[in-house]
Amino acid sequence: ASDSYEFIKVSEPRARVGQVTLNRPKALNALSTPLIKELNTALRAFQGTPSIGAIIITGSARAFAAGADIKEMAPLTFSRAYLDSFIENWSELTTSVKKPIIAAVSGHALGGGCELALMCDLIYCTTSANFGQPEIKLGIIPGAGGSQRLTKAIGKAKAMELILTGKSFSGEEAEKWGVAARSYPDHESLMKATLDTAETIASYSRVAVQACKEVVNKSQDLGVRDGVDYERRVFHSLFGSIDQKIGMTAFVEKKKAEWFHE
Ligand code: HXC
Repeated sequence: ASDSYEFIKVSEPRARVGQVTLNRPKALNALSTPLIKELNTALRAFQGTPSIGAIIITGSARAFAAGADIKEMAPLTFSRAYLDSFIENWSELTTSVKKPIIAAVSGHALGGGCELALMCDLIYCTTSANFGQPEIKLGIIPGAGGSQRLTKAIGKAKAMELILTGKSFSGEEAEKWGVAARSYPDHESLMKATLDTAETIASYSRVAVQACKEVVNKSQDLGVRDGVDYERRVFHSLFGSIDQKIGMTAFVEKKKAEWFHE
């Protein structure tokens, strides 16, 4: 339940859609260790809830998240960071959550906030959203995948410039460069579009949706030849699902598919 969390809010704003709203407004949703723990717990719960078919992570109109918690990190030593595998559990959502996660980004998405958005499967944002990897200004580097995922998303030239200068880029640029799938003029229209997309995804076959996420994400790790082989294997496997029969029979009979949600 939502009231068991201190730094996030959890809701089901539409049928089959789970939403986590980062809720540490005084610190612009700075991602502290306790916040990340709550986020992971909430996402695991959605992953384990059969009725949920898509997940949204969002913040406020002012900030998606202004980064890792600088006040928490300031006294950190190398030994502590190393021994505790600091930040490792941030990427838990990329392995333990098989359902699609959409990041709805308004306002600041800086440092770890930008990286959290990049860990999601799909980014929607406002045109005025403020993305960036400003770690260089703090004497560190992106540590939650930014140097890898941002570079994959926008190419080495732009990523190198952004990471070396710490300069931000707008939501409009994020869309133009392919970081975000779409951008919207304000927070309200962003949330409506995000909910509509999440609802659409959640209305499809669970097996097919999970397989789509799996194969598209594989493209980030594999070369095209291996990736296409991988895709074909997963494609073949879907002919063993009930939903393939339901979906194709419905088309042939001109009916609406009623998924088994196996
Ligand atoms: C802790 C933060 C914070 C952060 C903001 N706050 N960002 N606290 N960690 N990352 C706090 C401020 O200290 C302040 O608290 C309150 O939130 C409001 O912020 P202001 O700075 O007063 O707001 P504003 O002037 O509007 O500026 C917004 C801002 C700025 C441009 C986003 O706050 C900012 O530059 N924040 C830091 C962004 C950043 O460097 N992120 C990367 C972090 S490193 P008080 O108590 O003073 O009111 C990182 C590493 C990732 O993410 C690697 C591994 C995960």
